[in-house]
Amino acid sequence: MSQRPEWGTRAGFILAAVGSAIGLGNIWRFPAVAYENGGGAFFLPYLFALLTAGIPLLVMEFTLGHKYRGSSPLTFARLSKGSEWLGWWQVAISFFIATYYSVIIAWAMSYAVFSFNLGWGKDPKSFLIGDYLQVTDAGKFGDMVPGVFIPLVIVWIVALGVLFAGVKKGIEKANKVMIPLLVTLFLIIVVRALTLDGAIEGLNTFFKPDWSALSNGTVWIAAYGQIFFSLSIGFAIMITYSSYLPKKSDITNNAFITGFSNSSFELLAGIGVFSALGFMAAQQGVPVDQVVESGVILAFAVFPEIINQFPFANEFFGVLFFGSLVLAGLTSLISIVETFVAGVQDKFNVSRTTSVLVGGGLAALISVVYATQGGLNFLDVVDYFINTFGVALAGLVEVVFVSWYIKQLNPLQNYANAISDIRLGGWWKLCLGVITPLVLGYMTYDNLKQNLI
Ligand code: PHE
Repeated sequence: MSQRPEWGTRAGFILAAVGSAIGLGNIWRFPAVAYENGGGAFFLPYLFALLTAGIPLLVMEFTLGHKYRGSSPLTFARLSKGSEWLGWWQVAISFFIATYYSVIIAWAMSYAVFSFNLGWGKDPKSFLIGDYLQVTDAGKFGDMVPGVFIPLVIVWIVALGVLFAGVKKGIEKANKVMIPLLVTLFLIIVVRALTLDGAIEGLNTFFKPDWSALSNGTVWIAAYGQIFFSLSIGFAIMITYSSYLPKKSDITNNAFITGFSNSSFELLAGIGVFSALGFMAAQQGVPVDQVVESGVILAFAVFPEIINQFPFANEFFGVLFFGSLVLAGLTSLISIVETFVAGVQDKFNVSRTTSVLVGGGLAALISVVYATQGGLNFLDVVDYFINTFGVALAGLVEVVFVSWYIKQLNPLQNYANAISDIRLGGWWKLCLGVITPLVLGYMTYDNLKQNLI
């Protein structure tokens, strides 16, 4: 394992980890989740979740990757005999996320191009469903939708191209360019959004605290759920990325920087999205609550409508917005695909080129199904499985396994403390040994109950 690749610089690693964390979830998921779960009051559970679960788990994953220097399956295999399956489970989740995450980036790419002449027309919602995605009868897989297929091929060429180039020359370089660019583009949009008519109303709606939400368990669960997804924890990603850290690296401090950068971007996105929603509500003469949306509809139906109504330079802001989505998405996609590229490489001792071709190629092929008429239904099925058997459950098994089953918190703590600025203490073990398992356990139970019973 002597030639395991390494990051060139500390900043390179942090930017790559932040690049994975900042994704579509920050832009289209966080604003609505915060709004629906107490608005301004949501920041309390959110911050609590970040400090008691997000950052402690990030520290754990960084320590595991750094100590055992392997992709997730190899790390677990080295950590304890017979536990390699845990890594493969995480890798499998990442694999399926990659198949549909890539498609959404492809949509954003098309929309960046449509922005040049506001090609979505006066009614962006019908354009999205009827003209662009060509949604047909449920369950019917029809012809290829050319508008999706071509950008999807481009997305995969870029992502796999970066991965072919390697850790330092590919992933690190790409993130060093894309993340600063993303932050710049996004800041321009947020400043513009803040100066639109109605922005203040939007922000009031977003930040208005509903303190009663704090006594509601589902609000706390929503906060933890957002933190896990947003920080890409439990997906094998952070273990893989930290396995490329040089021996002399800080761990805890890196985890804090990654966690806070991701949350700052999330807050920025909330401000930008709600300012823009406030503007749209003012244009339509309706209260802001009536225009709140999230996910695909927010990005591809509501935003085009908002951009249509911009007072000037509509096309320019369209390109900025969809360009940001593409950048945020690509850096996350690269990280998810790297988990199985690294997994395959470690397991079968093949070259990076081979594992990118096989692992990445397979994910790319599967993703093409979503670019057909009716492919959207397939996306729903995969999403259902990922949510039921993925996110919370894999995280739960990981943390219970490490904390309780093989009882590794003490050795990991000593290991991290020996090389880090910030010292881990009893709080870290309390978070991982008690708080996180309880919350994840409840989330899993709730998820299974809702989905299976
Ligand atoms: N963290 C990314 C986001 O916020 C999503 C993601 C989840 C990326 C899981 C990779 C794996 O969108």
